[in-house]
Amino acid sequence: MSDLTVIVLAAGGGTRMKSKTPKVLHPVGGRSMVGHVLAAVRAAGVEREPRVVAVVGHGRDQVAPHISELMPQATIAVQDEQLGTAHAVRTAVEAAGVAAGTVLVAYADTPLLQGESLRALVAEHEAEGRAVSILSGVVPNPFGYGRIVRDERGVAAIVEEKDADERQRAITEINSGIMAFDAAFLAAALPQVGNDNAKGEYYLTDTVAIARSQGLAVGAMVLDDVMQTEGANDRAQLAALGKELNRRIVTRWMRDGVTVLDPATTWIEADVELAPDVTLLPGVQLLGATKVDEDAVVGPDTTLKDCEIGAGARVVRAHGELAVVGAGASVGPFAYLRPGTQLGAGGKIGTFVETKNAEIGEGAKVPHLSYVGDATIGEGTNIGAGTIFANYDGVDKHRTTVGRHARTGSNNTFVAPVTIGDGAGTGAGTVVREDVPPGALAVSAGPRMKVGLSATSSRSPPSRSTNSHAARSAIALERG
Ligand code: UD1
Ligand code: CA
Repeated sequence: MSDLTVIVLAAGGGTRMKSKTPKVLHPVGGRSMVGHVLAAVRAAGVEREPRVVAVVGHGRDQVAPHISELMPQATIAVQDEQLGTAHAVRTAVEAAGVAAGTVLVAYADTPLLQGESLRALVAEHEAEGRAVSILSGVVPNPFGYGRIVRDERGVAAIVEEKDADERQRAITEINSGIMAFDAAFLAAALPQVGNDNAKGEYYLTDTVAIARSQGLAVGAMVLDDVMQTEGANDRAQLAALGKELNRRIVTRWMRDGVTVLDPATTWIEADVELAPDVTLLPGVQLLGATKVDEDAVVGPDTTLKDCEIGAGARVVRAHGELAVVGAGASVGPFAYLRPGTQLGAGGKIGTFVETKNAEIGEGAKVPHLSYVGDATIGEGTNIGAGTIFANYDGVDKHRTTVGRHARTGSNNTFVAPVTIGDGAGTGAGTVVREDVPPGALAVSAGPRMKVGLSATSSRSPPSRSTNSHAARSAIALERG
């Protein structure tokens, strides 16, 4: 097999995005547009590692490092002025010294592109021994595209919109922009391309007529799925391509055994991994490198970024980032899992609970209205409602450790650094500032509450429930 060089054109300005971020860096489906193209390029070269040359220009201070991060082996070619696609490709060919094999040209703003399509074009190109092969598409509205002019010997020319006559404008087969070349032909043809045309640009598409004038073969392969080669020029097009990308990703996961109740309100980014028999309820966004294991149920109305959800876990109306939820655990409704949250198997982070850097052991529960920051909670422990892990003293953050099988009361404050031992307990309203030994019961100092009827309440005694609550508090104080 001959050498394969892939040239990715990423020098364009993208003025219609009206953004300080270069066009090809705009994210869609959890990756930049150029990131999707590089993923397709990587997937295209399964049998042979392609050499990759990226042409950068506008915003290259941002674009070049991004490409190098995603694909360190890629050569970066700088095109100072964007004089046309032939000029861009020539810049790449000269920067990388491409002389033999096959050259594939792709654009950096086509997020739906699949490696399979690139591979098919290269395979046909090489099998047919052509000088040029074009990936074409048939579209209802060909306005703006280069038209494929066919004759009995294949493709005679590509005519750009602005240079086309009326008959040529009626052609609905268009150049997707993805083209494969014989490298030796390309290197010789590029210096022959002029800019005497309506746009005053060096058109890569002029290489077609040059090949034909030399008696070389040119062909076009029609790609049925034209959206793969569609570029996003403004934010409305970006949103449309993003929606279509999501539709494709969601459909693929459903085919792989994931139940999705409402595909229209379910967003799954490109790098997410799901196991069969996961269920996603309406309004779920799975972002970044999120992984969900089998039989887990996520949603409704949940956003998870870079999270790991264990088998059979249940996550309801939650927002999570860099959090790990163990098998069979339960989260929400209305929970905020911040980075470093690790919930053990069978554990619970309940309603109106925020967690951060919190290791919550197997079967441990933080069921209601709590903030758990910089904490370790042992297995089987229950944290009472309304508990604050006060981790910040105004200068530094400190850690709180609660042992195994502890029972802490409602409305507690744990002033870190502090440790509550295994099997220990705390009374309602306790502010824990000192370590509580294993098995002990801690209560806050304060006025003791008497059980009984006060003078004023003797005429209208407190209700039974108030009375018994007071009694329980008093007992706790005495035991403490
Ligand atoms: C080009 C094709 C056209 C095809 C269409 C598909 C040519 C002359 N025309 O037209 O046949 O139907 O794409 O979308 O090739 N770029 C550079 N440097 C340059 C010029 C362009 O990097 O000097 C990049 C752009 O950033 C863009 C791509 O190449 O990603 C295409 O350039 P653009 O000017 O948009 O070409 P079109 O006029 O759309
Ligand atoms: Ca274009």
